[in-house]
Amino acid sequence: THIVALVVAAGKGERVGGDLPKQYWKIGGKAVIAHAVDALAAHPAIAAVHVVIGAGQEELYSKAIGTRLLPAPVIGGASRRDSVLRGLAAIEGASHVLIHDAARPNLPGAVIDRLVEALEHHPGAIPGLPVADTLARGTDILGDVVPRDQLYRVQTPQAFQFDAIVAAHRAWPDDREATDDAQVARAAGHRVAIVPGDALLAKITFGEDIAVAEQRMAARMI
Ligand code: C5P
Repeated sequence: THIVALVVAAGKGERVGGDLPKQYWKIGGKAVIAHAVDALAAHPAIAAVHVVIGAGQEELYSKAIGTRLLPAPVIGGASRRDSVLRGLAAIEGASHVLIHDAARPNLPGAVIDRLVEALEHHPGAIPGLPVADTLARGTDILGDVVPRDQLYRVQTPQAFQFDAIVAAHRAWPDDREATDDAQVARAAGHRVAIVPGDALLAKITFGEDIAVAEQRMAARMI
């Protein structure tokens, strides 16, 4: 097996607020994206880490990545799926790929272990967390409660057989949004295993998430 990681970082990160996309904010003096890249590169099962960045983010990226030796970044597209497809096209010779959001800087090696293990039995594997809160529909008035016992919060990295995920992304309709890759794999008929995720893997989406990630990172280092 030849497992390659693909980090997608071409989003504008507008929900965080501010001018700087969230993947370039710093936690403990190191950019969010560099945390994600380092966690993947440090894992013995991962042969290479490729990164997809936004057009115009070349300088931000090279500052964030510093002296790390990585393949040249790929320029992403307008949608997350566009960015993933472009990234996959730049990877050669991989049997499997782990696709990871740059906005998830806290990536425990144990999650990668579980994904790699699951790939021995399934064409795809994702980290998932059970839902602790009550889930309800609603606008500003409470609607129906949604049973949570069979629901997961789906995280990344998401692991796939390389050829399977490439074909699945190509087959996905252009006009439909895909917030992750597992739904694309599933739509193409692949069975995707759910392995335990980790609360540390939370995605940085809003401004306050940065402070939470910083605290979690500090707690891990103690
Ligand atoms: O916007 P959201 O948080 O769902 O984005 C998830 C990941 O996909 C982020 O790491 C973001 O940088 C990436 N992305 C991308 N290209 C896009 C949109 C999002 O690489 N066009």
